[in-house]
Amino acid sequence: MLVFKTIDETRKFVSQARELDQTIGFVPTMGALHPGHLELMRRAKKENDLLVVSIFVNPIQFNNATDLKKYPRVLFKDLEMLKTIDCDAVFVPSVKEMYPEPINKTFDFGPLENVMEGAFRPGHFNGVAIVVEKLFEIVEPHKAYFGEKDFQQLAIIKSLVEMERIPVEIVPCAIVREKDGLAMSSRNVRLSPEERAMAPRIFKVLKEVAGKAGEMDPVLLQQWGMKQLQAEEAFDVEYFQIAEDATLQTIVNWQIGQGALAFVALKLGQVRLIDNIRINS
Ligand code: PAJ
Repeated sequence: MLVFKTIDETRKFVSQARELDQTIGFVPTMGALHPGHLELMRRAKKENDLLVVSIFVNPIQFNNATDLKKYPRVLFKDLEMLKTIDCDAVFVPSVKEMYPEPINKTFDFGPLENVMEGAFRPGHFNGVAIVVEKLFEIVEPHKAYFGEKDFQQLAIIKSLVEMERIPVEIVPCAIVREKDGLAMSSRNVRLSPEERAMAPRIFKVLKEVAGKAGEMDPVLLQQWGMKQLQAEEAFDVEYFQIAEDATLQTIVNWQIGQGALAFVALKLGQVRLIDNIRINS
């Protein structure tokens, strides 16, 4: 496995691969890898000749300085994990390498960025879009793999690719969960044992909500789900929304043919967790 710290080395590798007509599957990450990340990578490796991964804790997408400071950084362990899945190259740039000077680019994702994560984490998606666009320019992947765990991020990336006409196929990947239902996340290691024991309740409520969609209208269902989450003292709920898959706007009436999901963000102790589930109304 090749490990590149610079943009130049990565570009060289990529252009050699392209000359040999090899396809590149790319998985951008912020490290602290877990089986959810590895699932994306296995798929990328299977569907392409080469797997390229990036590990970069992107400071400009953190709207909370403590979250950035406390974000787990375990590069050595990550590289060991990448070797087990036959990764071809990993790009691990420094902040200076990625941002030699401050970037003042502002994207407009319209209504997609005004709700949920966009509303609660100002500037977050602009920071994500800046880094992902830059990574796409460097790695020039044929396909790039993103998890539905961050469903809104996935929508933003699809919109970015369309707006900027970036020649890459975005491949959505299902959420990978722990046995007890908790969505895997790099932040889970920061939960105390008591918090970790509470956390699976999030997915349990989501499943209950999905199960009730046939019998409740979306507004009542949203209120019901919110009440279940708020009933748990340990949960500090930021939002619980029932929204359309394509637009991410709140659903007021069920409509035939419309894709719906329930989305949640909450704080459990110091850790902010997000999750979602598809709803069949
Ligand atoms: P990170 O949180 O490291 O996630 C990297 C990719 O793994 C994302 O596409 C995310 O949705 C996916 N992922 C994380 N947990 C998952 C799970 N339990 N099941 C399925 N997929 C999962 O998302 C980011 O990094 C950053 O914002 C990034 C896109 C790298 C830009 O900095």
